[in-house]
Order: sequence, then structure tokens, then C-alpha cells
Amino acid sequence: MTRRKLIAGNWKMNGDLAALAELDGIAAAAAANPGVDVAIAAPATLIAAAAGRGPDLAIGAQDVHAADKGAHTGCISAAMIREAGARFSIVGHSERRADQHESDAEVKAKAETLHRYGLNAILCVGETLEQRDAGQAKAVVTGQLAGSLPDGAGAAWLSVAYEPVWAIGTGRTPTVADVAAMHGAIRAKLRALIGEEADAVRLLYGGSVTGDNAMDLLGAGDVDGALVGGASLTAAKFVPIITAAAIIPA
Ligand code: 13P
Repeated sequence: MTRRKLIAGNWKMNGDLAALAELDGIAAAAAANPGVDVAIAAPATLIAAAAGRGPDLAIGAQDVHAADKGAHTGCISAAMIREAGARFSIVGHSERRADQHESDAEVKAKAETLHRYGLNAILCVGETLEQRDAGQAKAVVTGQLAGSLPDGAGAAWLSVAYEPVWAIGTGRTPTVADVAAMHGAIRAKLRALIGEEADAVRLLYGGSVTGDNAMDLLGAGDVDGALVGGASLTAAKFVPIITAAAIIPA
């Protein structure tokens, strides 16, 4: 099964109109590496301005509400992000699971809403350091996956990102063997849940990915791309990750 590499950036609560200049270098790298899918999840305020910076660069959101519309002050709907030019959204990022207390059921509903609106989803899962130290990492991650996987999950619109919470923004990463083992466990769980379709679903690794470690992490078994935070904020840091993905055989 050949899966195209996907290198997605998550700008989190960073960036302003001036920062969009970085997208030009990123879009150029996307165009120069047609074997790699490149995406940026922008802050909601920048989606419209970021969309259309290059046909090879997909712009998305970092979250979406599960409801179509209504009395949800401060929230943003799938129709809204789509109209702004988003092609996808992240759902279930650990920062939202922690800060906004998002449950697996909410994350699942959000992913299903994205699909109804013709948008793609990057579904995040990952264990805390405490859970890893207690030997619960695989059980936690596969449990989150089972609880938050949308009905009708399909590889054409859904990717899964494994982001160990303790590796996010810390400069620490799991070993390549640990990443391969967890991605293998995620793939196996997906097979149990959705059958053969699981083999086409892209599994991204996220957590302190940089140009320096991208080759190793992207080369691990069952790793089909990366979800990148800090190193996605500038073209200088993000482009080397795109080019690393381009030279790793699918
Ligand atoms: P960092 O790459 O900054 O560790 O962030 C990873 C992440 O949370 C991406 O969603």
C-alpha cells in the first residue's frame, strides 16, 4: 500500500498577517515536491488570507464546532472555515483535550461534521508522560482512537496524528523504534475498526519534529508524515521537513 507523505504545520495561536509571507516559501517547496502533500493549519483569523497562497498548499483550521450553526459563542463552524478557504481541520489536539476538556465523543462528532461539509480531518491522539511511565501508552492511544474515530472513517479524508503530549514543544522525541511500535499499534487498531481501509489511512507523527530529526522519524515504519508545530512557523524551518519527506520512499 503506497501512501503519499503529508507534512502538515500547526501554527497554534501564532502568526499574523505579516507572517503569511512565510507561506510563499512553503508553497514554493510544496510545488517543487509534488510527491508530498503540504498543509498548514492556520489560526482562524488567517485562514481566508492564507488560502490561495498556492494551489499546492492546503490551508486548514485547528478546530471546528460539531454543530452546523447556532448559539455557541466564540466557536467556528465547518461551513465558516470552508467558506474562508479551509480544506481541512485538526480535531482532538492534546492542547484542546487538556485546555478545553474535549472528550473523545466530541472529537468524533467534530470529525464527522467536517466530513459532512466535504472537509478533511487530522485526528490527534497521544499519551501523557505519566501514562507512558505507567506503561499505558498503547492502551491510552488506541483507546482514544477507538473513542474518537468518526463513523464512516475513510483514508480519502481522514489522517491520524500520533502526538505524545510530552514530546510537544519540548525538544524531546520518542525513539524511532517507539514511534514505529506505536504507529504499528494504531494501524492494527484501525484495521480492527475499519478493516482494509486502515491500510490507506495516513498516520502522522507529531512532537518536536525538526529538519534535523525528520529523516529518522519519517523513515520509521508506518509513519506517513508529520504534524509540526514550532518548526512550521517559518519557511526556513519547515521546508527542510518537506524536502526530507520527498526523499523517503513511500
Ligand atoms: P511541536 O512541533 O512544536 O512540538 O508541536 C507539535 C504539535 O503539537 C503539532 O500539532
